[in-house]
Amino acid sequence: MVKRSIAVIGGTGAEGGGLSIRWAQAGHDVVIGSRDADKARAAAEALTARLKSGVIRGLASADAARAAEIVVLTVPYAAQMATAQGLKDALRGKILVDVTVPLTPPNVSRVQLPATDSCVVAVQATLPETRVVSAFQNVSAHKLGDPDTKIACDVLVCADDKAARQNVIELAAEAGLRGIDAGPLINSVVAESLTSVLIWINKTYKVRDAGIVITGIA
Ligand SMILES: NC(=O)c1ccc[n+]([C@@H]2O[C@H](COP(=O)([O-])OP(=O)(O)OC[C@H]3O[C@@H](n4cnc5c(N)ncnc54)[C@H](OP(=O)(O)O)[C@@H]3O)[C@@H](O)[C@H]2O)c1
Repeated sequence: MVKRSIAVIGGTGAEGGGLSIRWAQAGHDVVIGSRDADKARAAAEALTARLKSGVIRGLASADAARAAEIVVLTVPYAAQMATAQGLKDALRGKILVDVTVPLTPPNVSRVQLPATDSCVVAVQATLPETRVVSAFQNVSAHKLGDPDTKIACDVLVCADDKAARQNVIELAAEAGLRGIDAGPLINSVVAESLTSVLIWINKTYKVRDAGIVITGIA
């Protein structure tokens, strides 16, 4: 495994916190970013306490993004664009893994695609010097925080840059998930909209982590 420095912006939340634990447990250097540095430090301490080994650090988001080679965005849709734009300088030349699902409560089990179709494509359009990769939208946070739990959900990885796509497929594997090369960034619209279907299935079947598995490949 190539050890990487990863900043998870919004890692104080369930989705980013779960990914942080999995990557730190795998041996990566993980820092979580928050709007509030004290909140980041407290959340990082709590996440570190759940690790068998290693440390997760907490910093203000801009410092976290500057410190890392790969940045992961796990904030609500309402905050996605402003957060990404606020980090524009720190993101230059890096990979940004965008986990955002374009949903605004309360009707989250109905697809709510933005006018641009994909909210991740919209971020890439404003960050031309960053390689934006879409991934993890279909992975429920429910079991992410326990790295020993196998999650039955594939990760659709979309990006216009093939090498960046490959990097994130590897990151998915290191989080214990199967990353699938799902093509160019515009294909992210499928992953982004599929999440509402999974939320619908969760409600209907009274489960917390419905997922998707791609068949027909090894
Ligand atoms: N939860 C899931 O199961 C799941 C599954 C797949 C994808 N996702 C996607 O992953 C992203 C994160 O999900 P989540 O459930 O972890 O979200 P969350 O807990 O609601 O928010 C994550 C973090 O985002 C920051 N944040 C919240 N409101 C903000 C605002 N107005 N401006 C800037 N930052 C704000 C907060 O960090 P600070 O206060 O520390 O700055 C918060 O801890 C979302 O886009 C979601 O659609 C979630």
